[in-house]
Amino acid sequence: MAEGDSNNTNGSVDREITEGNVQNVTPWTATTGSEATFDYQRLIKQFGTTPVDEELIKKYERITGKKAHHLIRRNVFFSHRSLDDILDLYEKKQPFYLYTGRGPSSESMHLGHLIPFMFTKHLQDIFDVPLVIQLTDDEKFLWRDLTLEEAHHMAIENAKEIISIGFDINKTFIFTDLNYIAQSREFLSNVLKIQKCVNLNQAKKVFGFEDTDNIGKVGYPAVQAATAFSNSFPFIFGGRPDISCLIPCAIDQDPFFRVTRDVAPRLGYQKPSTFYSSFFPGLEGPGSKMSASIPTSSIFLSDSPKTIKDKINKHAFSGGKDTIEEHRKLGGDTTVDISYQYLTFFLEDDEALAKIKKDYESGELLTGYLKKELISILQKIIKDIQDRKATITDEVVQEFMKPRPLNFKFMSTNINYTHTMTEVLFPSVKWCQKLHFIALSVYVSEFIPDNINITKLYIQFSGTGIGAAGRNKYAFEIHFFKDIETERMRMFTYENYIEFRIPKAEVESWPRLTLKPEKLHWLQTDWSRATFEDSDPENDPENSEASMRDEQDDQLKKLMSDLYKDKENEIDEMKENLEQNTTKTYLICFNSLLWCMFSYIFVVTLRMLFVYQSEAGLHLYSSVISTLMIAEGIQFMEIIHVLLGWSKGDLTSTVFQNVGRWIILFIVVIPHESAHSLPAFTMVCFCWSAIEVIRFPYYILQLLNLDVEMMTWLRYTAWIPLYPTGMLSEMLTILFTLPEIHKEGKFDLPLPNNFNISFNMSLALQYYAIIVTLIFGPYMLYHMYKQSYKKLGLNKKKGKEKEN
Ligand code: TRP
Repeated sequence: MAEGDSNNTNGSVDREITEGNVQNVTPWTATTGSEATFDYQRLIKQFGTTPVDEELIKKYERITGKKAHHLIRRNVFFSHRSLDDILDLYEKKQPFYLYTGRGPSSESMHLGHLIPFMFTKHLQDIFDVPLVIQLTDDEKFLWRDLTLEEAHHMAIENAKEIISIGFDINKTFIFTDLNYIAQSREFLSNVLKIQKCVNLNQAKKVFGFEDTDNIGKVGYPAVQAATAFSNSFPFIFGGRPDISCLIPCAIDQDPFFRVTRDVAPRLGYQKPSTFYSSFFPGLEGPGSKMSASIPTSSIFLSDSPKTIKDKINKHAFSGGKDTIEEHRKLGGDTTVDISYQYLTFFLEDDEALAKIKKDYESGELLTGYLKKELISILQKIIKDIQDRKATITDEVVQEFMKPRPLNFKFMSTNINYTHTMTEVLFPSVKWCQKLHFIALSVYVSEFIPDNINITKLYIQFSGTGIGAAGRNKYAFEIHFFKDIETERMRMFTYENYIEFRIPKAEVESWPRLTLKPEKLHWLQTDWSRATFEDSDPENDPENSEASMRDEQDDQLKKLMSDLYKDKENEIDEMKENLEQNTTKTYLICFNSLLWCMFSYIFVVTLRMLFVYQSEAGLHLYSSVISTLMIAEGIQFMEIIHVLLGWSKGDLTSTVFQNVGRWIILFIVVIPHESAHSLPAFTMVCFCWSAIEVIRFPYYILQLLNLDVEMMTWLRYTAWIPLYPTGMLSEMLTILFTLPEIHKEGKFDLPLPNNFNISFNMSLALQYYAIIVTLIFGPYMLYHMYKQSYKKLGLNKKKGKEKEN
């Protein structure tokens, strides 16, 4: 996967496990190896999380408007993944929720378990957001030597203690996996979807599973991950899958959430953010992790004041010196003194803590004093919890565990989701085409599809995402201009749009995307990528030039579909696009220039006809001839374009047309004065310019992938009077000029000459006229007819078929 979260950690866990004396942290074990304490900086590197730095703390304080919690200030919550995003959401008053959990491995929780919950409660108080607490009885059943019933019972007992920490029933949902998975189809669906996204190999790498592990373990991480997706709790979030989640927990849980973040975008969900604490040290010393399975290492929430006192006095590792004298002289070591360490967790007063540190390190205070301080603080905290716990009945627990809506302001004051949802909007869609496929870009992000259905005739698209109008339901439907091929269809999800690559059933250019010509306000041509696809009717696609290029296209197509995923190919694509863009811009300029020139000729001709009527020819020639010469000269480039493959043209007809005009212009008319004022030549000017005045704008529109129905209609209708008239006028021009051509003999080559060939232009032109009338003319007309039938006749028929 391209997703970076797990990259730098791949393989790290299992490697560390096999290397005995190296610090090893997984969700199920934490040892420092040969070191005295955990190296959290190394852990950050190893896991690839982000340290909590001064800047983040400042941002936190600015956005919450409160001093950061002492566990943040003292770097207990020392690392995170995209915590910034949550702060940004809070700043923008966008909803999110909190998620934390506990694997119930003992009847009573210990201080180490208390920390994340205390902190979570603090976060909930500050942010006022829903909280879900997962009790993983399934996890403990799979990992420990426990029956399901025992694990579940512990979960319920733990729930009582958790509730006693002070969570608000109106804002908190607590569940045990065993119960809730059985109740919630939504939750199970997410578990399954996540499981399908992760293969055994990845799971082994991240979690260090061994071949001897039971297979339940392998599947479990998906359960812990599913809780981080808001649509697992439809009764709280109304089925919204897009609500972000913040998970405060100890850093050993990171592997779970690394995987969760990896799969989230693939399922169309938000990546959860995490906020990681260091471990709460065991009584025996800073290198240990408080563990419920070693009673002497832990202070339990069920311990009596006396037990607390005894455990601390007896077992709490001291950073003091062996004798009082030595201690007074050298001072104590706060970095290893467990009492001091615990005080950093539980003594909120910064000044008091600083004083203790100073006095202890100077040797003024003995460990005994620190222990006394700690004992009284802990006795109070634990007694409060115990007092509250006494009031927590099974009913209260059940109430917390009941799937139910929670009271949340954001549900009502934020953009009313269900309201806007009823109004389905069109997303902005852009399209472009190549001969063999079309590309559709749908501008929605964080999209969760309801339905994407592509058949060979149409695409249906609907779902929820962030589009031009913010988060909403977006939908559209396009009936394609022609059949597409669904099999090799591809969909790519990018940051802010989704792209469909849809192969056309036949390799050809489409004049528009949709079956019906009506313009859709939400559908646009992708200017930046549209490629030039000429479908000029005179340029028969069946000719050899075109089919050769089609063949190349075919090969390219194969290559492309094979290599499509590769970056390299994308770069080629971009290059190609760039090239095509330059060509396209050039062709647009070229066509525009000729359009202007012919428009000028057209207008002047019309004006002359109106003003001088039958005398028009006398005045027309001098006004238009230079423009006409230049225009016809430039038109030579059209042949070059076809040869270069820039326009998909039929070489023969392009050459015929141009050579025909040059003969008329440069051989017949210009050199012979009697032709200048011929009404037939006036007619030639009229027909030529009229044809071009329609043809060039039609090309330009095609280049821009715009479909203006009137232009297409004109293009394929106007030729019916103009082509025959044009040709007739050309022939008449020749005919009427023949006497002068014959007399002047400007182009004749009389015998005797060096080559021993005679040439008589007037005779040649007579033959030419006959060939044009009998062959070229009908050929051109037949082609125009065929193309027009395709463009206008067929489309109409197709349109009607669809309607029925
Ligand atoms: N796996 C955790 C444990 O063994 C329990 C857990 C589930 C959890 N979801 C969580 C812990 C979310 C922290 C945050 O304790």
